[in-house]
Amino acid sequence: MKSPIPDYLKVVLDDARSIEGGAPASYIETLAQADTTKMAVALAMVDGNVYSVGDDQVEFSMQSISKAFVYAMAIEDKGLSKVLEKIGVEPSGDAFNQLSLERGTNRPVNPMINAGAITAHSLVEGTTAEGRTERILRGLSQLAGRQLHVDEEVYEAELKTADRNMAIGYMLKSAGVISCDPRDIVKGYIRQCAINVNVRDLAIMAATLSNAGVHPITGDHIIPQAGVRQVLSVMTTCGMYDAAGDWVSNVGIPAKSGVAGGIIGALPGQVGIATFSPNLDERGNSVRGVAICEKLSRDMGLHMM
Ligand code: DON
Repeated sequence: MKSPIPDYLKVVLDDARSIEGGAPASYIETLAQADTTKMAVALAMVDGNVYSVGDDQVEFSMQSISKAFVYAMAIEDKGLSKVLEKIGVEPSGDAFNQLSLERGTNRPVNPMINAGAITAHSLVEGTTAEGRTERILRGLSQLAGRQLHVDEEVYEAELKTADRNMAIGYMLKSAGVISCDPRDIVKGYIRQCAINVNVRDLAIMAATLSNAGVHPITGDHIIPQAGVRQVLSVMTTCGMYDAAGDWVSNVGIPAKSGVAGGIIGALPGQVGIATFSPNLDERGNSVRGVAICEKLSRDMGLHMM
């Protein structure tokens, strides 16, 4: 029997087209020029069925969505207790690029803000900057089920305006959180953010989290259970930055957004969701993406509570 899901997703996407407001990220030249008419949504079920509509082949950079998966890799490579020594798990309520460390512990507050994500990047296996980036690209490609690539134009564009992230890198070095050259670590973090995906890739990656770390299509056990639990926990409390409270009450799904306009949601045991639309609200989350996720959650009863 033909599934009704694609027709339903088309209706949801068409409704969202009329939502105005927001603007693409302006601090990265290439993102500022994004085609704001592009929109897509994908659902990947834990049984391996994937449904997508709209511009589902259009690629965009993962940006902060990569933070969730690189945190899982750091946990796999160094162990949870070592990672917790370096990065906290408290929601910050601050902007993603806040220069801050947790009072008392001097750790970045959580792995979803830049300070924590740059630290997580430094913790993945690899003795050189190239080695770490290679490990991350390999891990993310395995999750997507295809070879992913760095968008060099996005990488170069972000590098031009990376002063704030460089400042975060030097803050981490002076606090003893990272020990390598901060410039190398920040450049690697920016490369990680510039890895291109489409909504189908992201939905499958999210569904791997929903499916206890087992890839829903290949059946490979990619993310160990300790990592899945930890990542979903911080996605719930910190994944949407200072909109985390609104998100948890309205959508109720562990999630992560990126400034290129992507959002992922991972509902344990059920589904991975991905949306794409470049116009962002003042908190850095996709305006139409948030609206689509709110509708899917309401219509399909996806709220965790
Ligand atoms: O660190 C940055 O500025 C970006 N490369 C990633 C930021 C991002 O996606 C924030 N998320 N909404």
